[in-house]
Amino acid sequence: MIKSGMEDVIACQSDICRIEIENGRAILEYRGYDIHDLAKHSCYEEVAYLLLFGELPSKSELEYFKAELADKRELPPQIIGLLTHLPPITHPMVVLRTAISYLGSMDKYIHHRSYEKSIEKAKSLIAKFPTIVAYYHRIRTGQNLVHPNDDFDHAANFLYMLHGEEPSWTSIKALDLDLILHADHELNASTFAARIAASTMADMYASVVAATGTLMGPLHGGAAQKVMEMLREVAVPWRAEEYVKEKLERKERIMGFGHRVYKKTMDPRTIELKVLAKKLADEKEPKWYEISEAIAEAVYKLKGLLPNVDFYSASVYANLGIPDDLFINIFALGRIAGWTAHIIEQYENNRLIRPRALYTGGKNKHYVPIEERD
Ligand code: COA
Repeated sequence: MIKSGMEDVIACQSDICRIEIENGRAILEYRGYDIHDLAKHSCYEEVAYLLLFGELPSKSELEYFKAELADKRELPPQIIGLLTHLPPITHPMVVLRTAISYLGSMDKYIHHRSYEKSIEKAKSLIAKFPTIVAYYHRIRTGQNLVHPNDDFDHAANFLYMLHGEEPSWTSIKALDLDLILHADHELNASTFAARIAASTMADMYASVVAATGTLMGPLHGGAAQKVMEMLREVAVPWRAEEYVKEKLERKERIMGFGHRVYKKTMDPRTIELKVLAKKLADEKEPKWYEISEAIAEAVYKLKGLLPNVDFYSASVYANLGIPDDLFINIFALGRIAGWTAHIIEQYENNRLIRPRALYTGGKNKHYVPIEERD
């Protein structure tokens, strides 16, 4: 008996992320710490440290880690050259995975997989992801590059490089929280892809490229961009129910709804993101949140599905002034901490991931040379 889509199959052991449904409530923990506590008290750098090293840092360890990341943010001129030469119609996720490959080609330790070297690569990728995304966006829109600023923490610096102005406190806190919520999620498709690549002893850049390519699909991280398209199409809350009804009648999927693991329970990240989306709506533009609420109500009424992490991300990003086609990249800016932690865990206790397929094709066919075929 095969489980379609490997549903509920335990494919590896991991100390990084716990997802469990207990008494009808979903638990999500990074290294044993509840996501709601991290959302309330932590910052992205602390969460990245926790995922990579397995423990919360002391105050001085966190300050040192932040400084190390800040120090690694700038891109080599060759990567800036690449961003300049890619056609401006290139999707920013394609740009990101191309730049990761290029970074790999410049690392003389690319094939070293010791714990120390892997941690160095992970820090460099976490630090450089935001710069790649912000630089490419400014280049394609004909704006001057805004170089990283050491005075700003990770989330603030990204918004600063993207928009070219000091971000508001509300925007910084919102993005920081969003990155925390996206930092890891056990064996989601992109992390699994990363672990499969790492299990062949492929280098970290190759493993992260595998993850980045996998994230882009609309059934995974690509959903948030599709949610925004839907919000724009619906345009006003009163049109939501009719829109959802028509989509369901056509047997189409409503993006941002449903989840392989959280079937009847709300994804804990969605709970946090909904509060965040409402807060931003109250302080900035309420429209996207209001349409989102109307869609969520209609989808629940007509199909019984709950929103997932990508649903409220869309209105959050819109209110942060992030262009729609950067939404998947923002997911990646958070998830890179989880991907690298999983790759390192895979290297540390590796066995090739190589499952089997149940063969369902034809058998024992007689080969006829091409000249003799009709
Ligand atoms: N819109 C409409 N129907 C949906 C749906 C959606 N977003 N997600 C699931 N369903 C329905 C399926 O049609 C199916 O209904 P049926 O039993 O009446 O045929 C049922 O729910 C189960 O769907 P299934 O495809 O088996 O679920 P899955 O676990 O394989 O898929 C997702 C999980 C996330 C891929 C799926 O929910 C989806 O496509 N969501 C939209 C994309 C998205 O938001 N992705 C981000 C995930 S974080």
